[in-house]
This record gives sequence, structure tokens and C-alpha cells, in this order.
Amino acid sequence: MGRQDIDALMIDGRNAANLRGDPITGERYTSPEFMKREWDHMWTRIWHIAGRTAELEEAGDYVVHDFMNESVFCVKQEDGSIKAFYNSCRHRGMRLVWDASSQDSFQCPYHGWIWGKDGVLEKAQDPEDFPQGNPCGKLKLKELRCATWGGFVWYTMDDEAPELLDFLSPMPELYKNYPMDTGVRVFWMKIDLETNWKFATDNFSESYHTRTAHPQVPPWIDQDVDTARHEMWPGGHGRTVQPMRPSLSDRLPEGVQHPFDMILQAWDIDPESYPDFETKAMQGWLDLKAAKKRLWQERGYVHYENMDDEEITDSPHTVMFPNVTISFLPDNVILFRTEPHPTDPNKCTFDLWCMAFPVAGQTMVESIMAGPQPLHEAEFQHRAFDNGRGVPEIKDQIVYQDMMLAEGQQRGMHSRGYDDAYLSGQETRVRFFHEVLNDYLEGRR
Ligand code: FES
Repeated sequence: MGRQDIDALMIDGRNAANLRGDPITGERYTSPEFMKREWDHMWTRIWHIAGRTAELEEAGDYVVHDFMNESVFCVKQEDGSIKAFYNSCRHRGMRLVWDASSQDSFQCPYHGWIWGKDGVLEKAQDPEDFPQGNPCGKLKLKELRCATWGGFVWYTMDDEAPELLDFLSPMPELYKNYPMDTGVRVFWMKIDLETNWKFATDNFSESYHTRTAHPQVPPWIDQDVDTARHEMWPGGHGRTVQPMRPSLSDRLPEGVQHPFDMILQAWDIDPESYPDFETKAMQGWLDLKAAKKRLWQERGYVHYENMDDEEITDSPHTVMFPNVTISFLPDNVILFRTEPHPTDPNKCTFDLWCMAFPVAGQTMVESIMAGPQPLHEAEFQHRAFDNGRGVPEIKDQIVYQDMMLAEGQQRGMHSRGYDDAYLSGQETRVRFFHEVLNDYLEGRR
């Protein structure tokens, strides 16, 4: 698929006339019955991320993905491929593995059956004592389809689902210039939140909340309504592309150090060389692109090699239906993912992974969601948000500010005072997400 094909499929994400107008009712966030329909008709049919390809370097390396009451593990094979299996022993259902690690084979802790990396049963106690026949070499763990894209390992529970790249289309083509496999996960946290999982997809489908919730952002990512592009694609994915330059509407008071000045200075551009603020914002942004294209190689920014003018400075914030958001930034990629609680629609987990592209000589990297981080693979951490008290290290970061709003919105969804969203044009993607979800729930996909 080329760029022309992508453009031909793109739907204007600021025009509500492209939608049916399905209501976004509160029960979608609060009802156990609705949650059950999501499992039956959507979660069991989409592609899920199990982990990162960097976690599966050697044969026997595996990652575990627990999703609601299901669990799947993905194992690197001797031939370099990756297989995904349900995490359940075929003897009597015991869970086989709990956390990512590396093993030559998988011994069930209950009766000791040993499953090979390829899922085939290698050994069982008293194998001749089975009236239906020796299970060794015959039984195999139930396998799922598994594929990779973007440095992530994906699987689907649906044998009929489209191929991964078709499911994600056109994102693999749109983001082909980013060397995703080289990202180092410098921040890796799962956070328990008291809200429905859809809070995050809604939130990341619009930037209308930014001025209120993230007042620190407009001085360096332009939030003006007419400078962003809002794009949607038939698969349910969408993105908002904003220039990473100061907003001309939201200005910092005179005398305050401007964050854009430091960005310019980092690439040898003198912020004082512009006659006024408007010129600095607009021409400085163009000069920044030129400077990066001129200097990337000597400065070791090898990940810029194939990036275009937009990618080298801007911020396409991308939601991949239904629950994965990836913020593509010039120097790092940030994954946000919410997943439902197994039984309670008022709860979810929020994954925050920051993947930095290494630059020669750098030992620390700046992640806009998690602050400065050492440039090495981070340890996994699982926390309760606890009204912010559980994650002090990301206090006042953009994503923390989002999470601080999550519980309040969930409370409001229970109210008889709420019946549908009253959306601005720039929030069109929020309703689009719900309409695609409805398509799944009602058998139209
Ligand atoms: Fe796994 Fe019995 S349940 S060996």
C-alpha cells in the first residue's frame, strides 16, 4: 500500500458527518453485560500485544500476557519464529507459566507433564496408563496465531481474524520510517486504575482536553484547532498530527524561559535571532527541521535516517483500535494501553512503556511521559494509581494528569445526568471509536 492508497482510504477525523451518530451512553462504561459483549465479540477477535520482540532473543525466551481471565504465552522457537499458546495444561487445565523468562521446556507444576517449546507434549508420568493412548508426541498446547510488527509480539484468539498487518493497516506503512525494533524500553509500568478501559481510547482520540488538563503542553506542541490533522481509517484506527512548535494562541508570560528556546539551542539555533515570537515559532520550526536533517549523522541520531520532514519534528498521536495508543515522537515512541479488569467494568490496567531510540554517547533520555530515564531496559513495575500516590515518579507528567481525571469521569458515567457526549468537531474520533466497537458487537465486522 502506497501513500496514495492510504490517503484514498483516510476519513476526515474532524467531520462528524462521516459518522452515524451512535450515542456514547454511560452503560458502555459501567455495565457488566456490555463488558461481556466486548469479550465475546471484540476482545476475542482482535490482535493483542503480548510483549516486545526484544524480550525474545534466544530460543526458549517467552513472555506471558494475562488478559481478563485468559492467559497466553509466546515462545521463541529454535528456528527464530515465535509461537503463541494458551497458558493452560492440556491434562487438567493447570496454568503453566506466570512471568516472562526462558526455558527449554515447560513442566506443569501439577502432575509434571513436560511440554516442548513447540507446544508438543514430551513427557508424562505413566504414559501407558492412558486408555485413550500415550499422550506424548500426540497432545499439543492449543496454539494461537502470532505475528510481529513495530517491535511488538502480537497474537489473536481468532483463527478468522485478518492478518496482523491488514488489521493494523495503514499504520505499518505510515510508520515504516521509524526503526521501531531499535527502541529501548526505558520505562515499563502497569498501573491499576479505577476506570473503564475505554477512558484511555477516548482520551487519546482527541486533544481538546489538552489546554485544560495539560497546560504545560501548548508552549511546545501546537494545540490550535486548525493546525492539527485528524485522520481516521476504516479499521478503526486514527491519529491526530500536531506540529511540535509553540502555539500562537497560548503564550507564556513575558520573561518565562520558553521550552522551545532550549529545543532550538540543542540544534545550534539561536532563539534570539528571530525578530518576534511568531517568527520564532513558525520559522524556527522549519529551521529545526533543516538543522536536524543537516546534523543528525554527526550527532548520532541514526533513527532520523529515513524520517521525513514531518516525522523529524512532529507528533502523530495514534490510536490503534481498540486499546493501543502509540505516540510517535522524533526521539522516542510511547505506548499506552488499557485492558479491562476481569470482572469489574469500573477498573482497568494502564500500561505505560517508553521506548527511546539510542543516540551514541547518550546515557540519559528524556521521555515526555515519564521524565528523564537512564538509557537501558527498565525493570517491570506494577502499581495501584491510588489517586496519584502510587506513582510519585510520574507526578505531573502528561499521562499522570490524564489518570487523575479517569476516576472522576467514570463516576460521572454512572449518573442519570449523563446520556451522550456532546462532541466538538475535533473530538469526532471519539465517536468513531465507539461506532467501530458497535460494529464488532453487532456483527458488522
Ligand atoms: Fe498439568 Fe496435570 S494439569 S500435568
